[in-house]
Amino acid sequence: MSAPNIETIVNLSKRRGFVYPASDIYGGLGSAWDYGPLGVELANNIKQDWWKWMVHERDDIEGIDSSIIQNRLVWKYCGHEETFNDMMTDCRECKSRHRADKLEFEGMGDMSVDDAIAQSLVQCPNCGKTDLTEPRPFLTMLKTRIGAVADEEDYNSLAYLRPETAQGIFINFGHILTTSKRKLPFGIAQIGKAFRNEITPGNFILRTREFEQMEMEYFCRPEEAPALVDEWVENYLEWLGSLGVSKDNIDLYEVPDDELAHYSVRTVDIMYRYFPEREEEDRQWDELMGIANRTDFDTKSHSKKPQDEEGKRINPDSTDDLSYFDPYTNERFYPYVVEPAIGVNRTLLAVLMDAYTVKDERVVLKLKKRLAPIKAAVLPLKKNKSEIVELAKKIKKDLSKTMRSVYDDTAGIGKLYARQDEIGTPSCITVDFDSLDDQTVTVRDRDTWEQERVPAERLTEFLNTEG
Ligand code: GAP
Repeated sequence: MSAPNIETIVNLSKRRGFVYPASDIYGGLGSAWDYGPLGVELANNIKQDWWKWMVHERDDIEGIDSSIIQNRLVWKYCGHEETFNDMMTDCRECKSRHRADKLEFEGMGDMSVDDAIAQSLVQCPNCGKTDLTEPRPFLTMLKTRIGAVADEEDYNSLAYLRPETAQGIFINFGHILTTSKRKLPFGIAQIGKAFRNEITPGNFILRTREFEQMEMEYFCRPEEAPALVDEWVENYLEWLGSLGVSKDNIDLYEVPDDELAHYSVRTVDIMYRYFPEREEEDRQWDELMGIANRTDFDTKSHSKKPQDEEGKRINPDSTDDLSYFDPYTNERFYPYVVEPAIGVNRTLLAVLMDAYTVKDERVVLKLKKRLAPIKAAVLPLKKNKSEIVELAKKIKKDLSKTMRSVYDDTAGIGKLYARQDEIGTPSCITVDFDSLDDQTVTVRDRDTWEQERVPAERLTEFLNTEG
């Protein structure tokens, strides 16, 4: 079977209620998406799994949930206000707008996109003409205004929707250090929404203006940071594998120096094969996540002056100093930070693409059981036989105490099985005439389609342990 492409997943998502286009009844809003009944369960399961793996199962990570809107100075001193730009270019012919670094043209690699545009070598992806404007920077932080008397020109009311959750972690480093009594190395994890005014969003939930991140900032001594980058790459390869993401669809990309974010000295991106249908292998990949060595850039940037021997990035506005005193070595220094940052939405898309299979011309979504939106569907063999319906509803009620389950009697049994296979439900429980006599039910496995008879009273235990 050939791998599904994003379009296949878009169709399944809309048809079955994973993801819908946002503002659909008003014609949509470019690249905004709403998560439906199944999508919200799947996203929550991914986030819960991450939190358990990242925070609960380790003893060196704390959690936090910081505000989306912070003091504007946060974005000034971390450098985003100045550097969080994408280069954009406009097509003079059709007026469409594009991110310059994403444009493709013949002779790429030897020539910069600026030069290629100047020589009219770059075609507009929309209309094909080669009349593009000189690339210019565009601030991708989304602006808002706060306060009742805010007017458009009032600089004091200006605020930003956070473009990364990371800064909420850095500015709370001092609080967490004091309240948790932690010693380095330790990490702080956060899940939350982030916003970027992307010039060219697209490809379903891959690049949107509103998205969700799962970030962890690991604070350490400077000399520990390089090895920690490799360690977190390995940790993530393992975690992604445990979500059912196939190794064949994963690749590592060592970000070249001239592409590094302003705070990073090394970033390794974990790439996913989101575009298997593209002929050239190197165009099949896009970033799933990144692991960066952010050095002491952020801990220094948010610290009260004086902080930098070279006199750079003096911060007169902070009231804190985010340096750390090491009681073992009697040294004071600014902690380095190693940051694995991953998007919930890109993870969800990778999980769906890898789970998508076709068996006997029917879709079977082979999601890991702990990620499946619905763990069990209880199906009565006959919906006009009241004793069967009653027993099935009772079983559903019992199961619902420990797992998300549904009762469905809206079609024949074959159709009901197919519906559940398509949304990844690992087990279907059929209640039939024999169930009334011996209190057993049939449990059908999504992947093998094998059936097993199980006593109703043992069902919860059976479903929780099996597979
Ligand atoms: N704090 C570091 C940081 O934000 P990033 O590589 O810009 O680094 C981290 O973002 C992750 O967030 C990405 O690898 C991706 O999974 C997700 N992400 C970033 N921009 C996104 C967008 N516009 N739409 C969906 N996900 C996005």
